[in-house]
Amino acid sequence: MVLREAFFVFGDKMIDPKRHLLRLNDWSEERILETVDIAMRLKKEIHEGKPSTRFHGQTIGMFFEKPSLRTITTFQVGIHQLGGAAVILDPTSIGLGKRESIKDVARCLSRWVNALVVRSFKQELLEQLAEHGSIPIINALTDDYHPCQAISFAQMFLEQFGTLRGKTVAFIGDGNNVANSLTTLASKVGMNFTLACPKGFEQPKAVIDETAEGFKRHGTKYRVFNDPKEAVKDADILYGDVWVSMGQEGGKDAKQAYFLPFQINDELLSYAPAHCMVTHCLPAHRGEEITDSVMDGNRNLSYEEAENRLHAQKAVLWQLMSPTDK
Ligand code: CP
Repeated sequence: MVLREAFFVFGDKMIDPKRHLLRLNDWSEERILETVDIAMRLKKEIHEGKPSTRFHGQTIGMFFEKPSLRTITTFQVGIHQLGGAAVILDPTSIGLGKRESIKDVARCLSRWVNALVVRSFKQELLEQLAEHGSIPIINALTDDYHPCQAISFAQMFLEQFGTLRGKTVAFIGDGNNVANSLTTLASKVGMNFTLACPKGFEQPKAVIDETAEGFKRHGTKYRVFNDPKEAVKDADILYGDVWVSMGQEGGKDAKQAYFLPFQINDELLSYAPAHCMVTHCLPAHRGEEITDSVMDGNRNLSYEEAENRLHAQKAVLWQLMSPTDK
């Protein structure tokens, strides 16, 4: 797969990334910020009891090959709030690529639903669905990226801090899919990104390469520390995630031993600025990567971010789907 100007070349077909949310890196800074604006407006409309019914009568498929609480619930609730219907597709029954080719599944689903939300292992699966279907494909997490989480974080951070520009997010833990999408977000919108991880758990070179231009353009920094106390010194927010991601449970005990010094706890927070807040993409493993004391403390914004999953994902649909003709 080669990124060429505004299009992907995947197989022999051009994919227009603006029709999908496959990776946040495919979206411009303007589009990301506009999406956050829409999310804020949709949140306000719900709080005022005046929700838009933009997608009245439209149906969105939900194909989840990994477990979920937040993403699957907030997509369904959000689609309902916008007047549409969500259909949960059963991966076992469908047997994507086994019972039936990805090409045929994509072509059939495109005749029935108006968009497809996908949580899977391989990023390539989403690209293949986008290549063969004619409907927007939305990444609800892959092994490589979690763009909806990053947009929800941006909304939460703007609500709390008033600006993204020049602020510093310090991701404490494994250089994983959430870290990758946060790095992309930071590079696009003018934030600094710090990763604190044990040696050997850094992010893929491809992510560092594809975000380098954005950090350079904004004059912001991408940094990696192996000492978490150094990493948090100038942070505006610490970001936590599980040390072992879904589907990567092999060698879990050995991995946890490496990560023990990277626990987000009161002692680590004492090295951060007094205004520094904390968030976590959830689910949190209390007592592992984050303590009860921090999760239940008044610097924790994880639940605000979780609330925004609802509105940020509606905003993603808003950007990708045509409104229902009335
Ligand atoms: N953060 C997140 O994606 O949560 P779920 O895995 O519960 O969807």
